[in-house]
Amino acid sequence: MKLNNIINKLTISASQAYENAYAPYSGFNVGAAILDENDNIHNGCNVENAAYPSGSCAEEQAIGNMIVNSGKIIKHILVIGKSDELITPCGACRQRIREFCDASTLIHICHIEKGLQRSFHLDELLAYSFGPENL
Ligand code: THU
Repeated sequence: MKLNNIINKLTISASQAYENAYAPYSGFNVGAAILDENDNIHNGCNVENAAYPSGSCAEEQAIGNMIVNSGKIIKHILVIGKSDELITPCGACRQRIREFCDASTLIHICHIEKGLQRSFHLDELLAYSFGPENL
């Protein structure tokens, strides 16, 4: 699949997740969508909680959906929201992505109205990371 096509498909899936986000406390909806090694797409949204630390991120949900549907490798992950700043994954989600990515994995950051803003390799977001091979 061509990169443009991948971005378009992941944007549609992540946008649907964004619309369903449960974020009554922050008012900050986030959607994420993953393309796995078999070209299957898995999405997720943030799910907040009245006990704030019990909330979870969109990336976390998307990774859980990939695993439950037998995906193994994140080839692309797209994160979408509505902010003037880039919505890059939080530290914990960078580590979660680390577990299931490879050197070619791309992390795409999008604005819900303006589209793709920037793409990263995980190394740029999490240098000298610790992963399965380090054990
Ligand atoms: N959030 C995500 O879901 N993903 C990110 O990459 C950044 C932040 C969520 C967590 C919380 O529900 C809200 O956005 C505000 O931090």
